[in-house]
Amino acid sequence: MTRDLFIRDGRVIDPSQDLDKKAGILVREGKIAWLGEGNPPEAADGTTVIDASGLIVCPGFIDLHCHLREPGEEEKETIATGTLAAARGGFTTVCCMPNTNPPLDNEGMVNYVRAIAARDGIIRVLPIGCVTVGRQGEELVDMTELEMAGVVAYSDDGMPVISPGIMRQALEYSRDFNRPIIDHCENLFLSQGGQVNEGMVSLEMGLRGIPAAAEEFIVRRDLELAKETGGHIHIAHVSTEGSVDLIRQAKEEGVRVTAEVTPHHLTLTEEDVLKYGTLAKVNPPLRTKRDRAALRRALNDAVIDIVATDHAPHTAADKSCEFTRAAFGISGLETALGSLAGIVLKGELSLNNMIAALTIGPARILGYEKLGTLEVGAPADICIFDLHRKWVVDPGKFASKGKNTPLAGMTLTGKVMATVYTGMLVYKDEELKMETGEK
Ligand code: DOR
Repeated sequence: MTRDLFIRDGRVIDPSQDLDKKAGILVREGKIAWLGEGNPPEAADGTTVIDASGLIVCPGFIDLHCHLREPGEEEKETIATGTLAAARGGFTTVCCMPNTNPPLDNEGMVNYVRAIAARDGIIRVLPIGCVTVGRQGEELVDMTELEMAGVVAYSDDGMPVISPGIMRQALEYSRDFNRPIIDHCENLFLSQGGQVNEGMVSLEMGLRGIPAAAEEFIVRRDLELAKETGGHIHIAHVSTEGSVDLIRQAKEEGVRVTAEVTPHHLTLTEEDVLKYGTLAKVNPPLRTKRDRAALRRALNDAVIDIVATDHAPHTAADKSCEFTRAAFGISGLETALGSLAGIVLKGELSLNNMIAALTIGPARILGYEKLGTLEVGAPADICIFDLHRKWVVDPGKFASKGKNTPLAGMTLTGKVMATVYTGMLVYKDEELKMETGEK
């Protein structure tokens, strides 16, 4: 029997239950056993106690979109380092994208990742399967095989699903399996060779731009196909105001669409590329202030459903090179909360919406009723954070192998203090106050 854990005196915020109050949580046998005011009726002797006074206690975060790079690119990340990074970021569940080498396009590869995750992962890893064989865009994967293997969604992320015919077929399966198809919306004919947002910065840097139309073209197509088929389309990393408008309209028409935005698209703009160079090179590119404002509004209005990190770890060599040769991507698991808390503290995102976008929002998209909630009986996946604690981003201290962040050296406000996964303390800040209960 594992020791009970009691988290006392925190401000418990659980949007799944409309809860925001000072309360304690008792964890027993990996599950939430009790949530209430004062002391639990039946706390056992030797209970480990975390003092969460002054801190926020919420469901563990769920990342619907991250890159763990294993197998094939272990120099960038492994499931071990990626899940450690996730735990430091307050995440208890991550969905890993299938653009590994080889890609997750068959049962054997999915089983392989699940086995490595069971051996090396310190939190829950849910694999996403490819839409097309080898992510080559030419042939639909055997979706039934991947379904049986336990994927939670399908995506060719890093690449769009190029063929509308294949997307249509995939959405038909999606309707039958009740699983989202996650599309990286980019018309390659419009974006080809593009490095940054098409606009002032592409002009100034003399780099080929990626126009907003490259994204919106595919968003429009996908929405039309989702409407026709009744399948569930999930739009990955929305970056433009135009995409937001399209999604809003489709939702009003009852199309089965959900959407995500990354912390970097919510906080940075194309101008940051001038300051941080390749570290701010990401796909889709950082856009304008106007786009950023539209993304924030969309998240508050639930046009965009969730925040997903698109954690894209790369090696130093992938980024310390000329701009056109550098890899796209930002290492984001360990800075997600600090980035988002900054928007909350500015009054541009409600605390409740931020937490919902990281917890019950993704759980609902995945159709997991027991995740993203602190309901009694649910797995004890919990994040404890300090909304007001300042810290300096030092990629050298990241658990992730990907040190590629434009936030290096920046002071963020909002810090994860502890992460509990199925009742186990998988991350603890050294300043967290805790009594182990050991005699
Ligand atoms: O910036 C990005 N990096 N965007 C993507 O879509 C793929 C990702 C990666 O795999 O590095």
